[in-house]
Amino acid sequence: MIVLEDRKSLNDWVEQSRLRGGKVGFIPTMGALHEGHLSLVREARKSCSQTIVSIFVNPTQFGPGEDFDQYPRTFVEDKALLEDISCDAIFLPSPEVIYPPGGQTFITVEPLASQLCGASRPGHFQGVATVVTILLNLVRPHAAYFGVKDYQQLTLIKQMVRDLALAVEVVGVPIVREKDGLALSSRNRYLTTEERKQAAALYKALCTAKSLYKDGELRAKELEQAARGVLLESGIEQIDYVEVRDKEKLTSELTADDPVMLIAARVGKTRLIDNMVLST
Ligand code: PAF
Repeated sequence: MIVLEDRKSLNDWVEQSRLRGGKVGFIPTMGALHEGHLSLVREARKSCSQTIVSIFVNPTQFGPGEDFDQYPRTFVEDKALLEDISCDAIFLPSPEVIYPPGGQTFITVEPLASQLCGASRPGHFQGVATVVTILLNLVRPHAAYFGVKDYQQLTLIKQMVRDLALAVEVVGVPIVREKDGLALSSRNRYLTTEERKQAAALYKALCTAKSLYKDGELRAKELEQAARGVLLESGIEQIDYVEVRDKEKLTSELTADDPVMLIAARVGKTRLIDNMVLST
């Protein structure tokens, strides 16, 4: 496995991979890798002859007072995990490689970016959309893999790729969960033992809504209230949102058959997100 740090060596690797034929699969990450990230690489390996993971803690998607400085940087462990699953390359750029001085361009995807997580994290999705566009332009993969756990991010990237006619297939990969249902996240490592137990309530809340939906409760407000109840019961009071949305467009008007429930809540100081498609 090769580690590429600058645009020139990345470009040489990309050219060679493309010359060899077959597909290049790309997994953008911020490092602190866990089984969820590894499932993206495994998925890519099923249909791509070359896989490349980027590790870049993107400063433009963190707001003031957020955890940019604290965000875990665990390159030695990340590299070992990727080597173990036969990933072909890591792209490990510095901020200057991604954002050379003098840049003036940002990508905005509105109104998708300013709702749900975007409402409490202004500028977050502009940072995500911009860095993903830059990374896609540098890596030029055939397919890029994103976790369904970041449902709004995945929806926004699909929209952006469509709108800008970017030549890449966007693949969503299912959430990987702990035994008690907690969705894997690099931020789970911030949780204390007590908070870790509480955090399972996000999954429980989603399952409660799903089971009500299956039993015929189709009213979004009732489903949201029931899920909120589960969170509050377990002591999670800082609820950012519990929303039932259209699973394709994320609008409040539900056009697709099965809507998605999305949750963001703080457990202690850690902000967690999760989601589940409610199907009958
Ligand atoms: O999901 C993430 O880890 C990040 O938002 C991404 C897509 C790598 C962009 O920095």
